[in-house]
Amino acid sequence: MDHSKPIDRRGFLEAGAAVGTALGLAADVALSAEQTTVRVGVIGCGSVSRAYLPHLAQCPYVKLVSVCDIIPERAKQQAEEYKVPNQYPNIDAMLAGAPFDLLVNLTDMQEHERLNMQAIEARKHVWSEKPIANSLDAGQKILATAIEKGVHIWAAPAMVASPQFAFMAKTLAEGTLGRLAAAHADYGHGGPNWSKFFYEEGGGSLPDLAVYNLTTLTGLLGPAKSVVAMTSVITPTRDIRDIGEIHVVAEDNAMLLMEHAAGVISHVQSGFSYFNPRGHDGEKEQRHTIRINGHSGYMGLVGYDWDPHGVDVATREAPAQKRFVPDKGAFLWEMGASLAAESLATNKPLLITPEHALHVLEVIQATRESQATGRRVPLTSTFKWPIVS
Ligand SMILES: NC(=O)c1ccc[n+]([C@@H]2O[C@H](COP(=O)([O-])OP(=O)(O)OC[C@H]3O[C@@H](n4cnc5c(N)ncnc54)[C@H](O)[C@@H]3O)[C@@H](O)[C@H]2O)c1
Repeated sequence: MDHSKPIDRRGFLEAGAAVGTALGLAADVALSAEQTTVRVGVIGCGSVSRAYLPHLAQCPYVKLVSVCDIIPERAKQQAEEYKVPNQYPNIDAMLAGAPFDLLVNLTDMQEHERLNMQAIEARKHVWSEKPIANSLDAGQKILATAIEKGVHIWAAPAMVASPQFAFMAKTLAEGTLGRLAAAHADYGHGGPNWSKFFYEEGGGSLPDLAVYNLTTLTGLLGPAKSVVAMTSVITPTRDIRDIGEIHVVAEDNAMLLMEHAAGVISHVQSGFSYFNPRGHDGEKEQRHTIRINGHSGYMGLVGYDWDPHGVDVATREAPAQKRFVPDKGAFLWEMGASLAAESLATNKPLLITPEHALHVLEVIQATRESQATGRRVPLTSTFKWPIVS
């Protein structure tokens, strides 16, 4: 199956039913041809579920079937608030319970790999929060299993679906900036204080924050060929709500350089130890957080890539900076799972691909390897590019 294209829905339904029968799976494992909506199960009812669930609840392609959390009160609370009929305390009970088609995985970063694989083994489609897995190797196995099982997996972030990303990609493709040379991106704040997984092994500001800039820059400039990087821990202990003081293991400060094709170099800075005078409010951020320099032009994304407010362009011929796409339309960073459901229900292609998520994961892995070894690290993965043609 070509994972860059959506599954033809009827084809999937028929193929799924046939495979299900051949494997002796319960009839309810596959989507039924009569379904007009995608049955969704949400696992992880913490902070980010408060952004996802309202969007999913309004999505015309979604029927919220179940919620799950290892802290059962959280599942109960979200089930009540969003009128979800079933709630479970673990993935085993969820998979054995009310049938659903798409798992939306909003759990701790380190749990994604295991839960994504378990859901795919049970022939569920998956939308995962980032990261898609804890390592490139494990992520590739998850994708291979998804292909084998005839299901889709996608992972956050969703910014390549924003109108600002589309405009930037088109501007670069048209050659408006001339020969490209360099790009910079940064995203940081003081770090979350509600869960310790952000600071444990497999957590860190790279998979939580840098992942946005890495997705945008590789999405705009193409797959990276190698990485040179440094990371550090600036704040060695943290106070976490309801837990108290913890020791920080994962990086809370990172800078990396990516080598793209034709000599283009990009730089990403991210951290959990930064004072941000604008707070962590996307509305208030009006800086260029993504800056791209070409031989004859400059382009800056206004605001964060996950909450963009416009794109400024200046060229040698027209040096007065001009603002484009000041409106993000319907785009919201938390809409990825709804887009996945829409793609399953309507066969509408998604620009978000698992191959891109895996490439970004490899950049993160290479960043840590570069810090550990002091070396430049070559990359092996790639993805379909350009994303917007
Ligand atoms: N909070 C945000 O603003 C935000 C924004 C974008 C992305 N994210 C991403 O969302 C994910 C979750 O972050 P969060 O801030 O919501 O964390 P959180 O700690 O608030 O919520 C995670 C929830 O998952 C549950 N959980 C953990 N392991 C589980 C398991 N095996 N089975 C069932 N439930 C399990 C926890 O009990 C918790 O309720 C992370 O990948 C994070 O990077 C968070």
